[in-house]
Amino acid sequence: PSVVPRATVAPPTNGTLRLPDIIIIGVRKGGTRALIEMLRLHSDVVAAQNEVHFFDWDSHYQRGTDWYISQMPYARPGQLTVEKTPAYFTSSRVPERILRTQPDARLLLIVREPTERLLSDYTQVFHNRLEKRKRQQTLETLLMRNGELNLDYKALNRSLYHVHLRRWLDVFPRSRMHLVDGDALIRDPLPEMKKVEEFLQLEPQINASNFYFNQTKGFYCLRNHRHERCLHRSKGRKHPRVAPEILQKLYDYFREPNQKFFQLAGRTFDWK
Ligand code: A3P
Repeated sequence: PSVVPRATVAPPTNGTLRLPDIIIIGVRKGGTRALIEMLRLHSDVVAAQNEVHFFDWDSHYQRGTDWYISQMPYARPGQLTVEKTPAYFTSSRVPERILRTQPDARLLLIVREPTERLLSDYTQVFHNRLEKRKRQQTLETLLMRNGELNLDYKALNRSLYHVHLRRWLDVFPRSRMHLVDGDALIRDPLPEMKKVEEFLQLEPQINASNFYFNQTKGFYCLRNHRHERCLHRSKGRKHPRVAPEILQKLYDYFREPNQKFFQLAGRTFDWK
């Protein structure tokens, strides 16, 4: 008979499901996919496949902690579990909810130069709308109102890192959060990943042989046990060309918010 008696079925040897030890909270288009994939190079890290949206989507949150745990990968003792949902960073209810559900979580936030992030955000929405055959809007239409920046534009708001970080630091101590420089991760991933390993108190394992530059893609790709792969083609898209005077307006606009962010973060970034 093809039915195996229950008693003879071996118990799972590939670990247990549990709450994530690490949550990549954002920022959207900061390089969150690159970060989680690079973290997975470490043998003591297992990652949830998809963005879980547990803390920001009420319909998921209402399903409760058991559902959240069921979305996690199997982890062996000693392994750390990580999930990433970039929308967490800008969603006001999330910090409190994480504190209630997983007070021990360590948080990773990857940021990019705010204007570059805004352009990446616009490009992502553009492609999403294209796929759904929705009407396209130029960046200028969304970004400008009567010759001035439209401060209601969502992608602009998401680059005001200090506004969002402040809410997180009302709930979590700064020591619980590590900031990753998304621009540095693009240029040279290894030093950024060594800092992440250190923050997470992982045994140093990620090394230069894990990365190789792919000329065609124009980005670093990943190598693990001779298996080589680049991120999906939706990562590393071309951004629209923007008039220099608009770019300048953006750089000028973000200057003060960036200083506030540096102050809160207790560090600086090499931004325009
Ligand atoms: P662009 O597609 O605008 O260049 P996220 O995963 O948070 O959506 O971030 C996407 C961004 O990750 C990409 O934005 C890209 O610049 C960046 N990135 C960082 N490292 C990368 C890598 N090794 N390969 C591809 N994209 C990478």
